[in-house]
Amino acid sequence: MTNMNQPLENVAVVGLGKIGLPLAATFANNGYNVFGADVNEKVVSSVNQGKSHVKNEPGLEELVESAYRIRTLTATQNTAEAVRKSNIVIVIVPVLVDDQNHVDYTYIDSAVESIAKGITKGTLVVFETTIPTGDTRNRFGKRIEEVSGLSMGEDFYLAYSPERVYSNRIIEDLKKYPKVVGGLDKKSLELASSFYRKALKCELIEVSSLETAEFSKVAECVYRDVNIALANELAKFADQKGVKMSEVIQASNSQPYSNIHYPGIGVGGHCIPIYPYFFINRGLTNGVTELSRTINDTMSDYAIAKIEKEMGSLQGKNVLILGLAFRENVKETTKSSTLLLIKQLKEKQTKIYVNDPLYTDSEIAGFGVTPLSLEDETAAEMDVVILQAFHKQYETLAFSKFASCKVLLDGRNALNSADISQAGIKYIGIGN
Ligand SMILES: NC(=O)c1ccc[n+]([C@@H]2O[C@H](COP(=O)([O-])OP(=O)(O)OC[C@H]3O[C@@H](n4cnc5c(N)ncnc54)[C@H](O)[C@@H]3O)[C@@H](O)[C@H]2O)c1
Repeated sequence: MTNMNQPLENVAVVGLGKIGLPLAATFANNGYNVFGADVNEKVVSSVNQGKSHVKNEPGLEELVESAYRIRTLTATQNTAEAVRKSNIVIVIVPVLVDDQNHVDYTYIDSAVESIAKGITKGTLVVFETTIPTGDTRNRFGKRIEEVSGLSMGEDFYLAYSPERVYSNRIIEDLKKYPKVVGGLDKKSLELASSFYRKALKCELIEVSSLETAEFSKVAECVYRDVNIALANELAKFADQKGVKMSEVIQASNSQPYSNIHYPGIGVGGHCIPIYPYFFINRGLTNGVTELSRTINDTMSDYAIAKIEKEMGSLQGKNVLILGLAFRENVKETTKSSTLLLIKQLKEKQTKIYVNDPLYTDSEIAGFGVTPLSLEDETAAEMDVVILQAFHKQYETLAFSKFASCKVLLDGRNALNSADISQAGIKYIGIGN
């Protein structure tokens, strides 16, 4: 509980996006006075009205509203000013990759410039964004020193703590997942750990260096990408042999050391398909990581080849993709397998329709495809349906509406094959 006689500690959260806002709102409800900083004027204005611009995140709207009521969360576009008023700074601005998969630091470098202009002696700066190993110390810490004239470890403290939450359950994960924390030195680690203990009330895993903490997040993502690639490779073999992969997985995983993942039409989002490049492009040569990226990014070709095997050329055919988003129940298209499907189907001169209940028609049309409501009678003219993201709205889908459909490819192995066959449609999964 907050001691009313003591002023609250000030925390700046730099980046109020899908992760930054839940963090800021949680800290603001756990005894801190939070200044959220974001370059986006709309984001700042909605937070200052006690409203969350991030949707579909259980518990978030209530936390933002409650922080607004108790006046512990305000937002600003002036990062330097927010940092100047704070003794703890949390950085959660993205690092991306470009078309060639080279690391793109544009956003975070700009944020670091502003932080360096506002930082005062004694401040703790914690980076949470997933970054290539070594960057907290060698890129960001160094730049703060150059601009501010302060020395890390003497005048300011530096820590790294990866953000590992999953969209749609961020607030729950913030409490549930242990927080990995690494510091520049003993004092930085102590300050960061004591902050998270109070601000998130979660378990901590203290590691021996900044670099260990940084690499632990990249390793976690690479682990998942490589294991999905293995499941995809096994599924292709199961297809050849006429074996049902879902049955194989259940049987194999009854051995405690076996943890075969699930195959699918591809891996999307701004974590798993991106972070392996923080490793591949930093000195890794010819490893399983790089091969896994290729396997996962060619699953959409594999799915299309499976459809063509059933019904021949797709030229001029009506193909409906269910789900623009990279995965179920999120509104996020980064590296979505649908983008790969669209590219390949365009080359085959297919008429491409996309349905996604989380997007407006104009947002879908922005990807150069025709949006299709499932209530539209054109649904009856689809020759092929591909399930890419299993949104909850698809759980009760009546397949009879696809009256001309010959093949349904279930890219997530999530649909009931018997229902689909009963509607007179050939069901194809990945690995069965
Ligand atoms: N989204 C996820 O599911 C997820 C999961 C785990 C970890 N992460 C980590 O969190 C990071 C942030 O992800 P996100 O989903 O919140 O991103 P996001 O795109 O939703 O939000 C980023 C925010 O940063 C702001 N911003 C950009 N440049 C800025 C600057 N110079 N100064 C201040 N603000 C700036 C943007 O306006 C935006 O509001 C990711 O890069 C990743 O490392 C994300």
